[in-house]
Amino acid sequence: MVTTTALACPMDGLPLTSFNNGWRCPHGHSYDMARQGYIHLLPVQNKRSKDPGDSKDMVLARQQFLAAGFYKPIADAVNEAVKTAAQSDQPVSVLDAGCGEGYYMRALQQSGLLLHMTGVDISKWAVLAAAKMDKAALWLVGSNANLPLLPSSQNVILCMFGFPVYPEFSRVLTPDGVLIKVDAGADHLLELREVIYPSIKVASQTPDIPPGFTLLEQRSLRYTIDITGQDQIARLLAMTPHLYRTNAEGRARAAALNELSVTVDVQINTWGRSDQILITPSPD
Ligand SMILES: C[S@@+](CC[C@H](N)C(=O)[O-])C[C@H]1O[C@@H](n2cnc3c(N)ncnc32)[C@H](O)[C@@H]1O
Ligand SMILES: [Zn+2]
Repeated sequence: MVTTTALACPMDGLPLTSFNNGWRCPHGHSYDMARQGYIHLLPVQNKRSKDPGDSKDMVLARQQFLAAGFYKPIADAVNEAVKTAAQSDQPVSVLDAGCGEGYYMRALQQSGLLLHMTGVDISKWAVLAAAKMDKAALWLVGSNANLPLLPSSQNVILCMFGFPVYPEFSRVLTPDGVLIKVDAGADHLLELREVIYPSIKVASQTPDIPPGFTLLEQRSLRYTIDITGQDQIARLLAMTPHLYRTNAEGRARAAALNELSVTVDVQINTWGRSDQILITPSPD
């Protein structure tokens, strides 16, 4: 199911081929498959910190929160968006760029599509968790800023609450490939934000237009989740950037809650490469 022919050396971009228990490029750079089933393709010189990306605690919090099913409607909507984009019986190569602990890639396996799945995350903790739970996808520690994948190798890129790097996304997408981007809407987790911040910033409603892409399809999803228990509320806070943005008083107010009803409000937008959007010439 997993194709490895799309892997590129993060040092020089050359194709990686299978070699013993790992991969090697024609220049001799080699990378081992970790015992847990992932490949580390983030050269030390490309790391901005010793332990980049989400920490072990954040990954565990997200894993436990997502396992409770609170975001299943998002996964279902993403599956629908991928199915719409695929529109064929051919295998679909899907990259989850900033895959976290792999929740959406596992959910995508319920779509009925024939898939070649790759998950990339800069956090080794996230990739380790993903690889332990799912052997069907290829899991890579790597950066969206220098994706270890060959040009034109992916039909679909998912970027879920993540860190998009559009020139890299364009490079690895096939000419007719699509980017499915999921972002928080203006009211996402509003009730949690009302607890932790003294005042709420009103977020812009219009999605940023990714350079080099054109909007093909727009979906919005809005529902309420009822979270019970201090642990689960703490996990939700810990898996969002709000944990670091709020102060000690805000965190203490959240920690004192035993239950919380909170709005989930997300935008699921499908983008095509602008250079592939065909414009029919008008007759002279
Ligand atoms: C908010 S989390 C979302 C995780 C996952 N997409 C989800 O929705 O469950 C953002 C993820 O992006 C990862 N990340 C941050 N910078 C990255 C980069 N340059 N390349 C790849 N992943 C990155 C983090 O480690 C983290 O797992
Ligand atoms: Zn190389």
